Amino acid sequence: MSKHKRRLILAGLAITSIGLSITEPDLIFPTSQEAPARQAAQEANPAPWWKHAVIYEIYPRSFQDTNGDGIGDLQGISERLGYLQDLGVNAIWLSPIYPSPQVDFGYDISKYEAIDPMYGTMADFDNLLAEAQKHDIRVLMDMVLNHTSDQHPWFIESRSSRDNPKRDWYIWRDGKGPGISPNNWQSLFGHSAWQYDPSTQQWYYHKFYPQQPDLNWRNPEVRKAMYDVCRFWLDKGVGGFRLDAIETLFEDTRLRDEKILPGRNAYGDPNEDESRTVDLPEIHEVMRELRQVADSYPGDRVLVGETYTRTTHDLLSMYGLDGPELQLPMDTQVGFIDNKLDAGAFRQRISAAENDLDGHVPLFLFDNHDNPRSWDRYGDGMHNEAIAKILATVLLTTRSAALMYYGEEIGMVTTPPKTRAEVQDPIGKIGWPKEKGRDGERTPMQWDGSKDAGFSTTDHTWLPVAPNYPTINVQVESRNPGSLLTWYKALIALRRSHPALHLGSNIMVNATDPNMLSYLRKNPGNGPSVLVAMNFTAHLRIVSYDLKAQGIEGATGKALAQNGGVAKAVELSHVALPPFAVLVAEVQ
Ligand code: GLC
Ligand code: CA
Repeated sequence: MSKHKRRLILAGLAITSIGLSITEPDLIFPTSQEAPARQAAQEANPAPWWKHAVIYEIYPRSFQDTNGDGIGDLQGISERLGYLQDLGVNAIWLSPIYPSPQVDFGYDISKYEAIDPMYGTMADFDNLLAEAQKHDIRVLMDMVLNHTSDQHPWFIESRSSRDNPKRDWYIWRDGKGPGISPNNWQSLFGHSAWQYDPSTQQWYYHKFYPQQPDLNWRNPEVRKAMYDVCRFWLDKGVGGFRLDAIETLFEDTRLRDEKILPGRNAYGDPNEDESRTVDLPEIHEVMRELRQVADSYPGDRVLVGETYTRTTHDLLSMYGLDGPELQLPMDTQVGFIDNKLDAGAFRQRISAAENDLDGHVPLFLFDNHDNPRSWDRYGDGMHNEAIAKILATVLLTTRSAALMYYGEEIGMVTTPPKTRAEVQDPIGKIGWPKEKGRDGERTPMQWDGSKDAGFSTTDHTWLPVAPNYPTINVQVESRNPGSLLTWYKALIALRRSHPALHLGSNIMVNATDPNMLSYLRKNPGNGPSVLVAMNFTAHLRIVSYDLKAQGIEGATGKALAQNGGVAKAVELSHVALPPFAVLVAEVQ
């Protein structure tokens, strides 16, 4: 199953937008011992930066507008680097900023080695890169390899005649007869994946919109051209790439039909199993070659993958079975599967990442620009803020790299369009009303309570600012020690500074408890380990921990961070956790 199929499951959800309720400030800030501890953690750990990274996805259109056109820009990102450094992120991933007709808001690229004027100039980009470096933040580019825009010069040439040298750069095929497409393959964005071109009387394949023709990755010239594009950005000094739609690079050469599955999708098409167009074995060769390109540069350049595998075990092949592939294929099992706050399911999936990935670091995430925000997916309408703090805790205190999405740290809500006429994302137009598109999770960042939430100064931001911005914004939350933003900041700082959280193994404890998720981050040295305990229910839970089997003698816990009214010092034999409470405690 691929991501957009998965997204359809999410799309049926009722989205509630409940404001963030301010709780009692009961969070303990990292102490002044932080700096030496951090240094010690770093010295003890020569591992590459990405193994412990917090990567923050920026959707540039929606982050910060500086020229008043209602669309975010590169200058805006540069101006907010101080905020990002303060939050503690190690890298930002920019959704595509290349020239594009913007049919898929940048995922339809018409020139790979330039910047769309809407976002600024190459000088603005160079400036962003230099400034980010000063803030100790790497910049990852979104690399779209599967397809280009239909306005890319390669495709314009390719469609111009059957014998154009670039014809074979895309997937052109004859139909089965007049008006009949080559087979039953469907676009992830609805309806046939084949588009007829009357001038040359053949069909071209597009896994996404018709304006996004798929490249032919079996053509060596295509490969070379795309690796050169990667080198262009690596030469500039980017920290690596997020590889878009990497699973769909190849299709069955014999064009065999997809198997039809029961039911219909949100577009009204029959469900298909996608085994002819997703995850073909050839993708691994490309990922190995991409990794060689990245590794030919100094400074641990990283490849993050957009991988929506069926199981955690399937993810193993993305790290590479016959030589290195991606360092960080995303693991969607924890954050995107069924959206239920189910302690057993979380435990099972986190354990799978711990046990089934041959020691590779998993990359967890709860939010991105393609799925409704976790605030609404996991929230119960009453305890959303406490639940958001639980998700943040899972993201930031397990042994994983962490991928965040702008606004997640302040609890931004999903704000879907109310009418079809308001929809910007084409899939919302194609699939309305079942599929409302992805506008809801792409609304402007909420910086403060001023006009346009401090995002812009125009009356026409490209998507409307969510109505809750007067109370849910960076300015309000940074002043509140009990806010979600303060929680994220504190956990990111802790994860950097505490050796057990930074380097420790992840061991599930009280592993049969259906109501609580508890794990130990065991200190690899002589220092204290950290116990993380979360109550996944709306009832008070009293639990007892015996960590002797884990070789831990300490019987008390001192809170490094806690939410929901847990005591600051606890006897591990009797820990009281109020509804949805979290305790991150050093065991002493
Ligand atoms: C990826 C992107 C998504 C885009 C698609 C087509 O899934 O995350 O936003 O629409 O690729 O490029
Ligand atoms: Ca702008």
